[in-house]
Amino acid sequence: MLTFKPANIIRPDINKLPELKSGEIHLFVFSVTDIFSRLQQLSSCLSATEEKRAARFINQQHGDNYRCIRGQLRTLLSAYLKDQPSNIQIEYEEHGKPFLNNKRQLQFNLSHSRDRVAFVFCRDSVIGVDIEFMRPQKNFAGMLRHVASVREQQELMALNEPSSFNAFYRLWTRKEAYIKAVGRGLGMGLRSIYVGTEPLETFTSVEYKGQIQSNWQVLDVTAPENFKLAICVNSEELQ
Ligand SMILES: CC(C)(COP(=O)(O)OP(=O)(O)OC[C@H]1O[C@@H](n2cnc3c(N)ncnc32)[C@H](O)[C@@H]1OP(=O)(O)O)[C@@H](O)C(=O)NCCC(=O)NCCS
Repeated sequence: MLTFKPANIIRPDINKLPELKSGEIHLFVFSVTDIFSRLQQLSSCLSATEEKRAARFINQQHGDNYRCIRGQLRTLLSAYLKDQPSNIQIEYEEHGKPFLNNKRQLQFNLSHSRDRVAFVFCRDSVIGVDIEFMRPQKNFAGMLRHVASVREQQELMALNEPSSFNAFYRLWTRKEAYIKAVGRGLGMGLRSIYVGTEPLETFTSVEYKGQIQSNWQVLDVTAPENFKLAICVNSEELQ
């Protein structure tokens, strides 16, 4: 069992990457606009499958953003694995979660929203991340019914603006980080998950279908202005 603490979330300098130790999480948040100047270099390490996917975007800017994000992911993975970015073999689980075939070596996940992309890396625990731009919702009550469990809806309804708006995005990013850590995605049913709405200061267990999932733990992390960011890890060490 690993004990994750907020202090173990490290935001390394990409040019001076420290060793990633067991029980630590490395977090990077980039502005896609900032990395866009390296589009050509970042695109050059993509696999044929990734290049095909980039070419399928109808909007060329979206395709180029995907190239930048994938290139940046490969650059980071290559720094951890001490290999060329183009040599990294990325595979996909049943519901689309990307992973490295040597799972014990390095776990990772990524999330993008508007101009921001977040990457998380971890040695020996399953991990998920979610970043969301806090867009005002025209139909807040409808979104709430779609995303929040009955208990969370009651907690949120008891709050006033802007607390309810912040609390909504806190719970949304926590839930998405959880379903991405598990890897099953939205098929898990967001309303079957309870992550609460109060700010979290330590990693806290998720509830799924009324059962506490003591291994699956979520935490809010400081995000860029107008964004929310959450991480979920599984405290059981991978064998
Ligand atoms: C995972 C999911 C919740 C992400 O939604 P989102 O909020 O729009 O996207 P985010 O920006 O946070 O994350 C996207 C990234 O997460 C990763 N990802 C994709 N599927 C994932 C999954 N099931 N679990 C964890 N991570 C996943 C990818 O790297 C993706 O980035 P990419 O598309 O640039 O490669 C959503 O795509 C989902 O539910 N997927 C499952 C769909 C499914 O079951 N498909 C079955 C056939 S593949």
